[in-house]
Parts: sequence; C-alpha cells; structure tokens
Amino acid sequence: MAKVQTDVGNDFCPQALFLYGTRQEDGTPHFGLFNWFSYFHSAEGFGAMACIGEEKRTKDLIRKNGVFSANLVTERLLPLADYYGNTFGRTAPDKMKRLPTVEWGRVLDVPTVAESPVSLELEVRRTVPLGDGSDLFLCLIRCVTREERLLDRTVPFVRRLQLAAPVLVPGEETYVSIDGRLLGAWGEPQHRLAPLEG
Ligand SMILES: Cc1cc2nc3c(=O)[nH]c(=O)nc-3n(C[C@H](O)[C@H](O)[C@H](O)COP(=O)(O)O)c2cc1C
Repeated sequence: MAKVQTDVGNDFCPQALFLYGTRQEDGTPHFGLFNWFSYFHSAEGFGAMACIGEEKRTKDLIRKNGVFSANLVTERLLPLADYYGNTFGRTAPDKMKRLPTVEWGRVLDVPTVAESPVSLELEVRRTVPLGDGSDLFLCLIRCVTREERLLDRTVPFVRRLQLAAPVLVPGEETYVSIDGRLLGAWGEPQHRLAPLEG
C-alpha cells in the first residue's frame, strides 16, 4: 500500500493515559490527565519522561515538589480522568471536589489512585524547557505498585492486560480500549459522572 505525506502528528501510534498526582500546599491531592509520557533507561535506573505544555496547576506543583505520581487510566476511571483533563486547575479551585480513592506513595510523598492498577512514583531529575512554554520532565521511577492479580503468571499476559483495561489515545482525539473499542471522544466520558450532591 502506498503511503502519502500527511500533517505531522502521532495518529495511529497509540499512547496510554495517566493521572498525574501531586500534593497541594495544604496536603490535599491534585490530579490532572496526561498522555505525553514515555520511558527511558539511564545509569541511575528506569526512567520516565513527561511533557507538560502550557503553565498549569499540575506543572506548578511538580516544579514545587519535584515529585509526582503517574497512575494508569482504566476504562472504569475514564469519566473522572476525562473530567480532570478538561478542567483547568488554575482557574477551577474546586476541581478536586471529585476524587478517586486516594492512597499515598510507598516511597515518595505523592498521592496515588487506588482504582488504578499501576502507579509509578516519580522523582524529577532534570527539567528541559522546550522554549514554547512546554517542559520535559526527566524522572527516575522510584517505586511501582501493581494490582496483585496482574502478577499471576499462570494467567497469560494478554489476559492480564485485558484485566488491567488501560485506555489508549491512538489519534483524532478519541479514547480507545486495548481491544479496539471506541470509548468516546475527548470531553465526552466526563458527562457520565454522577452529579455532585449539594
Ligand atoms: C486525553 C488528554 C490528554 C492530555 N495530555 C496532556 C499532556 O500530555 N500534556 C499536557 O500538558 N496536557 C495534557 N492534557 C491537558 C491537561 O489534562 C489539562 O491541561 C488539565 O487542565 C491539567 O490539569 P491541571 O490544570 O489541574 O493541571 C491532556 C488532556 C486530555 C483530555
């Protein structure tokens, strides 16, 4: 099949989604949704790289604390994650009126998401300003927690991956399941959240 030159982008190159958890000044948790995330290996060990665009609450707190968590987004978490990705923390001080079940890191002082099957605790080792307001955070992965059922090697890996049910963003601002089902357009799943009382 012939290929044609297209606009520059990463459509058809799926990425996973993560909720970044940071500790606010008053000790309460803050969460934002991110997909510009990947891994590297250095002499220090396993690393993660996170690119954060324009100034935002999550970036304020990562700069301030030097640590944050990355929690894999699942199909079950998607409505809340979509809300976190479409609510700008700097101008919505009550953004955290909706919360997952919050736990705290095993190694770092970071909030993590109990409902997420995989949580990474990240320590920023280097910040690379990209010149347009974006920053690339190069981090050391200081701790990983995974749901116990994902560790049972008597169950085939692909089955355990299906159990984890991560949400992918493969392009055209869509959410897609690991087995290829459309889960909605960005901004849609948040409408399935139950209304808040009061
Ligand atoms: C699907 C999706 C993926 C996103 N990925 C990123 C990302 O990788 N980097 C980024 O800077 N913003 C990303 N955003 C936007 C942030 O989630 C958004 O700016 C949000 O307001 C961040 O939370 P905060 O304002 O409380 O820090 C994404 C949004 C969506 C809906």
